[in-house]
Amino acid sequence: MSKNMIMAGLAVFVLAVLSPFWFNLITTTQAAPKPELLGKAAEAKKCVLDKYEMRAEHMYLLDVWRDSVVRNGDRKYTGTNGETFNMSLSTGENSCLGCHEDKAKFCDSCHDYASVSPYCWDCHTNPKEIK
Ligand code: HEC
Ligand code: HEC
Ligand code: HEC
Repeated sequence: MSKNMIMAGLAVFVLAVLSPFWFNLITTTQAAPKPELLGKAAEAKKCVLDKYEMRAEHMYLLDVWRDSVVRNGDRKYTGTNGETFNMSLSTGENSCLGCHEDKAKFCDSCHDYASVSPYCWDCHTNPKEIK
């Protein structure tokens, strides 16, 4: 076999091995979405905790909320800004979806981008879908 044939074969091999990388480069250049603050959240200005804490820790906060409600029957939570929140995913004024009224444009847009799909909605409801 000639040296050129071997080099060409090698080049094809390298391209093929790296194909997932090329594919990612082409398909994931889309920018991260900016979660939209809509409805009541647009007026509220503040979340339960500081924005960056919420971004990083909302899943753990929701676990704390669930345990508090289900195990201790306590539904009131005092946020860092001194305001009282209703420890609920989707029921009532000061719950997550009570304030972030558009689940699709807020929670889902971010989760879709990050490829997470919380299983919570197997049981919990999105008030907007009921209406
Ligand atoms: C009373 C209204 C209100 C409630 C209740 C509320 N939020 Fe927020 N949330 C906001 C506002 C306003 C912001 C933007 C805060 C800022 O810019 O400082 C925000 C920010 C966030 C962010 C960060 C978004 C970003 O741009 O990175 C996440 C995540 C979030 N909220 C999730 C939740 C979850 C989960 C709950 C329930 C545990 C919840 N929020 C309850 C009003 C609310
Ligand atoms: C700024 C982007 C962003 C926004 C806005 C956001 N999330 Fe998340 N969420 C994430 C990311 C990223 C993860 C995955 C984190 C991880 O796996 O460590 C996550 C994980 C979760 C989880 C845990 C899922 C699991 O299977 O472990 C829950 C529950 C959750 N989010 C609820 C919500 C709710 C409810 C809202 C809207 C009120 C919301 N999130 C808004 C980015 C966001
Ligand atoms: C198998 C069904 C099921 C799934 C899945 C589920 N929950 Fe729940 N959850 C419940 C039930 C039942 C209650 C009790 C309702 C009550 O007392 O108001 C509850 C209560 C809660 C509460 C307090 C009450 C309220 O109105 O929200 C929170 C917060 C909560 N769950 C968060 C979550 C989160 C976050 C997820 C996903 C990571 C999740 N749950 C997944 C069934 C479920």
